[in-house]
Amino acid sequence: MANVVVVGAQWGDEGKGKIVDWLSERADVIARFQGGHNAGHTLVIDGKVYKLNALPSGVVRGGKLSVIGNGVVLDPWHLVSEIAKIREQGVEITPETLMIAENTPLILPIHGELDRAREDAASKGTKIGTTGRGIGPAYEDKVGRRSVRVADLADDKTLETRVDRALEHHNALRRGLGIDEVDRDALLARLKEIAPEILSYAAPVWKVLNEKRKAGKRILFEGAQGALLDIDFGTYPFVTSSNVIAGQAATGVGMGPGAIDFVLGIVKAYTTRVGEGPFPTELLDDDGQRLGERGHEFGTVTGRKRRCGWFDAALLRQTCATSGMNGIALTKLDVLDGFETLKICVAYDLDGERLDYLPTAAELQARCTPIYEEMPGWSESTEGARSWAELPANAIKYVRRVEELIDCPVALLSTSPEREDTILVTDPFAD
Ligand code: IMP
Repeated sequence: MANVVVVGAQWGDEGKGKIVDWLSERADVIARFQGGHNAGHTLVIDGKVYKLNALPSGVVRGGKLSVIGNGVVLDPWHLVSEIAKIREQGVEITPETLMIAENTPLILPIHGELDRAREDAASKGTKIGTTGRGIGPAYEDKVGRRSVRVADLADDKTLETRVDRALEHHNALRRGLGIDEVDRDALLARLKEIAPEILSYAAPVWKVLNEKRKAGKRILFEGAQGALLDIDFGTYPFVTSSNVIAGQAATGVGMGPGAIDFVLGIVKAYTTRVGEGPFPTELLDDDGQRLGERGHEFGTVTGRKRRCGWFDAALLRQTCATSGMNGIALTKLDVLDGFETLKICVAYDLDGERLDYLPTAAELQARCTPIYEEMPGWSESTEGARSWAELPANAIKYVRRVEELIDCPVALLSTSPEREDTILVTDPFAD
């Protein structure tokens, strides 16, 4: 039986929600393995819109096990309110359908406060443009060995010790930033209040998933953000604080690398980015405006306008390699309908030299200019196409050229937010 990892292959917002939902019908378990409620996954099912941040997309499908793995950082209050909202939409969530790894680090209010205080204090050029949800500070505490983790909620004494350890560090930081010190008792009271609900979902996820695998169950690993926001391979420091690339799926739930059978990269037919940082193919002209309007490019978490640009095949080659993509799901092709000419970045020019990848050093990145290949566009609508036969010849040529340039085949083609508007080429779950 195949286990599939879905990762965003650009800067996030590639349309993972729909693809994960589409695949989750074939899966038994859907597991989040990194990130937190900085993610915003929108699912449209039979015209009904579900907005998820921390919950795996599988929760809206009955009969599946949804898992939050240890690679995630979890805001317990946000999760409880997200569960309540989703329940109001008629979705059933129980400890049998949702499990949270006991070793998942928690995002506390102090993390969000620190995230926002740092962003507010940052000068131009150092601001990251985070979602302000405390993701970075929570991961810092994880590697700093001072996190409060889900399992710590079960015992008051342990919880107090863990909170005190975290506060030693945070109060020192807050004094430096001119923020009031933390009200320890109030924080502990809030944690103790939320503990029973969170603990009702707590489980040794590593064990459950390894047993599921042995029993031949199909696991879908649901990535958040995108590979270009990866802490190691993204456009550092303008990245998120987790590993986003596919290898993280194994460590983020407690399975071996052999548990991954197929890596599916989600790729938008053009490029977008929210927040600060390099973006070689960014368009600051009417074409960029048009992509943003046609693609409804506004962040689901922060409502910020996304920056838009042409497809960057050079960057895609990188992310296909670092995640070991077996195939891609190409999304939002219909947003390109009506452009007379389309451009694809195939390499960069660095001081007259052609580079087929984006160099790591920031000052070299800043000097790189995209080398474009032009392709004729198409005037017909591709929205809602469900077979290749329904696509204009130039749209097919564009897709084929993308495959060639990134050296990875298209497994799925998505032509609208509706789940049925999908062309299947290769089933990632096929044995
Ligand atoms: P953080 O993850 O909130 O620390 O934000 C770091 C960077 O990642 C910022 O540029 C955010 O805009 C970006 N980011 C975080 N989550 C997402 C996402 O789900 N989609 C797109 N960008 C994201």
